[in-house]
Amino acid sequence: MISLLKAAGRNALRTGVILFAFALVATALLSFTFARTEPTIERSRQAEKRALLNQVLPPALYDNDLLASQQSVPPDASLGTRQPSAMWIARRGESITAVVLEAIAPDGYGGDIALLIGIDVDGSVTGVRVTAHRETPGLGDYIERAKSPWIEQFVGKSRMNPVPRYWRVAKDGGRFDARAGATITPRAVVKAVGAALDYFARNRAALLAETGPADVASNQETPP
Ligand SMILES: Cc1cc2nc3c(=O)[nH]c(=O)nc-3n(C[C@H](O)[C@H](O)[C@H](O)COP(=O)(O)O)c2cc1C
Repeated sequence: MISLLKAAGRNALRTGVILFAFALVATALLSFTFARTEPTIERSRQAEKRALLNQVLPPALYDNDLLASQQSVPPDASLGTRQPSAMWIARRGESITAVVLEAIAPDGYGGDIALLIGIDVDGSVTGVRVTAHRETPGLGDYIERAKSPWIEQFVGKSRMNPVPRYWRVAKDGGRFDARAGATITPRAVVKAVGAALDYFARNRAALLAETGPADVASNQETPP
């Protein structure tokens, strides 16, 4: 009986050692693969971000490394953000020419619609892109540039062009196109871009300050 127990113990120990060795090798392999692939993944992530920023900011507007200019902006209801968000600063030589803000339209059909909004120092939109949404495919997803040019209509717009009461979809008496049967989505985006322009106008000095947006007061009051 005792020899059986000893044999069983030896087997259990051997199995334990083999399993431990396997785990060790597997962990080593995983961390090696991670270490080898992470830089490549990071590079492609950066390239993707750069490409997206280039879509909302004409390259002629800047000659600085946009990714390196990234700054954190306190959460603000006018940006629809509940967490600190990112901002990028475009410069030509020493002068700031534009900023790119992250914003959220919280009232899409499927909830939050994440946006990147380029605004030049005069307060005009240089470009808008949708970076994430849950709008219905074939209905509300025409806000994606890959699906339709609808989002291009914001380029050159500002808080006074059109005047605020026309910052609505055409169905609501405004100047922005929307597809019939799917106006909830564009309504949300039009409202969010307008609110982001208000945010820029209100915080322009702090946003363009050399010290960065640290002095921008966080405002959680939902815009009207
Ligand atoms: C299943 C389903 C999904 C819908 N998805 C969207 C959507 O993603 N975006 C949108 O604007 N409207 C969507 N709609 C339509 C809206 O419910 C609403 O009727 C429409 O936006 C209003 O457009 P209208 O004002 O031109 O009638 C969806 C409707 C249904 C039944």
